[in-house]
Amino acid sequence: MKKKRENTTTISGFIIGATILRRYRRLHRHLFQLISVFSACLLLFLVSFSLLAPPPIRRHHHHHLSTSNDAMEIASDSDQETVFRVPASGGSLGRDLWSSRQSGSYVGCSNASGNFMTSDAKTNPNRYLLIATSGGLNQQRTGITDAVVAAYILNATLVVPKLDQKSFWQDSSDFAEIFDVDQFISFLSKDVKIIKELPVKGGKAMTPHSMRVPRKCTPKCYLNRVLPVLNKRHVVQLSKFDYRLSNKLSKHLQKLRCRVNYHALKFTDSILDMGEKLVEGMRKKSKHFIALHLRYEPDMLAFSGCDFGGGEKEREELGKIRKRWKTLHASNPDKVRRNGRCPLTPGEVGLMLRALGFGSDVHLYVASGEVYGGEETLAPLKELFPNFHTKDTIASKEELATFASFSSRMAALDFIVCDESDVFVTNNNGNMARMLAGRRRYFGHKPTIRPNAKKLYKLFMNRNNMTWEEFTSRVRTHQIGFMGEPREIKPGRGEFHENPEACICDTSDKSPKEASQQNQSEDSYKMDDNYKEDNKTRDSGDATDEQVPEDEQDWFDYLDNEAMLGEKRRQHNGADSEPGILSKPDQPELEELFSD
Ligand SMILES: *[C@@H]1O[C@H](CO)[C@@H](O)[C@H](O)[C@H]1NC(C)=O
Ligand SMILES: *[C@@H]1O[C@H](CO)[C@@H](O)[C@H](O)[C@H]1NC(C)=O
Ligand SMILES: *[C@@H]1O[C@H](CO)[C@@H](O)[C@H](O)[C@H]1NC(C)=O
Ligand SMILES: *[C@@H]1O[C@H](CO)[C@@H](O)[C@H](O)[C@H]1NC(C)=O
Ligand SMILES: *[C@@H]1O[C@H](CO)[C@@H](O)[C@H](O)[C@H]1NC(C)=O
Repeated sequence: MKKKRENTTTISGFIIGATILRRYRRLHRHLFQLISVFSACLLLFLVSFSLLAPPPIRRHHHHHLSTSNDAMEIASDSDQETVFRVPASGGSLGRDLWSSRQSGSYVGCSNASGNFMTSDAKTNPNRYLLIATSGGLNQQRTGITDAVVAAYILNATLVVPKLDQKSFWQDSSDFAEIFDVDQFISFLSKDVKIIKELPVKGGKAMTPHSMRVPRKCTPKCYLNRVLPVLNKRHVVQLSKFDYRLSNKLSKHLQKLRCRVNYHALKFTDSILDMGEKLVEGMRKKSKHFIALHLRYEPDMLAFSGCDFGGGEKEREELGKIRKRWKTLHASNPDKVRRNGRCPLTPGEVGLMLRALGFGSDVHLYVASGEVYGGEETLAPLKELFPNFHTKDTIASKEELATFASFSSRMAALDFIVCDESDVFVTNNNGNMARMLAGRRRYFGHKPTIRPNAKKLYKLFMNRNNMTWEEFTSRVRTHQIGFMGEPREIKPGRGEFHENPEACICDTSDKSPKEASQQNQSEDSYKMDDNYKEDNKTRDSGDATDEQVPEDEQDWFDYLDNEAMLGEKRRQHNGADSEPGILSKPDQPELEELFSD
């Protein structure tokens, strides 16, 4: 669409230019020839002069920043390098980099409406729901959020969720060691009755019946599959509870999701205090700071099948790791990159940030696990942003001692700093990145930069063909719609946790249309009217931004589609459509690797 328009403008510009030229020629043929010969000479002189000028960039710099294939590196060692010169300053954008435009009128709104049924009116005393979450801290967070909604749908009492202690991240913390459990129970008391442990009935502990629901199960699906079991057995545990509830729900259930996620789920005081200390440490260094969530672990890179520019050594090392997963086919680095599925390298993130206007004086907090290649990989980023901080540089070993051996607590600290940063940027599309993106929308659209990898990869590959100004302008264009601004995602699109649109209200827009719609949807509220609701929100959509993130397909879908492929093939045609069960054990490591 956009491309077409650009083409048309160029073509019509050309036609007009040609017409003018023709007329001009007829009138002043000789004069024109003289002038053009003279200007051609001048141009030639200027070009040769600029080619002879010394390259203004440090050479080693370039080496680190180069992206992928060897051919490019050779080409770039020639004189073309002179044009791509990365400045220390971010230049002037003519606007505040540290806030979103027009974010003022949008507020998070997740209160229940008057006719939302309360827990005391609907909880059935003979129905207990338990869940076992799965994955890293943020994937578990989605599971906890959805568990509350599932209990609401089923009129069940929820038992405080069990955390996954056996995931890839190996954290033995239980719920109350990460989250404030009393806040969780009391904040949601009107919505769902939550208890810490199963009661003892008739002197006997109740044993839960364990089952699993399919991914993205709708409210209707819960009523069809879980309710009958719950009625019969009274205590049901849903295992491996991650993304088991439909993304699309009625507005009322979405708002419940937001009450859980943004209000009921608070970290424990000790985690919050330490998190605040880190944030204060950053604020002491400068008024504003950027937090970068960088995922660049060797396993993850190997799984992605991308080429990160490390040549034969990298291919060998990552290839070796990759062999661990027998179901993965041979990688096709160019294809994954074209599809926008390669996490940006640290150097690429640095270039993107500089192009978006952040100068070398900006302070950067980096949240990351093990980085493949270590310091060498980080060097290009540090060169662009020398004010480089992490938990370990801001806090002392003693301060971090009680957190250090618990990956989820460490992740929680990073979550807090990333959440409170002025600008948040990621190189990936994992759970933490999405969770924070949605949260930052809800709490006032704080700038959140998520690389449009599908578009950016070409720029990174060809950057030695263009000037810095060209590069900058293209990065800015590609990033429209990926900056965390209000309404940049079309209504109905995107995963709920990254775009909680049902929980964001525009206080400036009190049009009668909106008001009546609110009314209507509340009146027509039924447990499974989610599709109707969907259609409606889409119709009412008037997003101001034409650019829509195209890659709806993200890491999670990627896993669903590619990694699970092996599993599905073996189970002749998707057990997800069978009632209640997924028979084959999942490939835990593979999945949880990505579940941060
Ligand atoms: C939402 O509920 C809270 C607590 O009941 C209340 O303090 C707040 O004012 C409510 N917000 C709106 C917009 O009604
Ligand atoms: C939950 O309780 C309400 C109120 O009694 C009732 O209308 C609704 O059908 C119940 N739903 C389920 C799944 O039991
Ligand atoms: C950049 O240069 C390479 C070879 O030098 C060429 O193949 C490629 O098409 C150029 N890209 C652009 C955008 O000009
Ligand atoms: C909304 O519903 C209330 C009653 O529930 C009604 O009095 C009011 O007129 C409705 N508003 C609109 C805009 O339809
Ligand atoms: C959405 O609306 C269209 C008509 O506007 C209807 O045909 C379709 O069934 C609706 N989708 C769902 C899932 O209800």
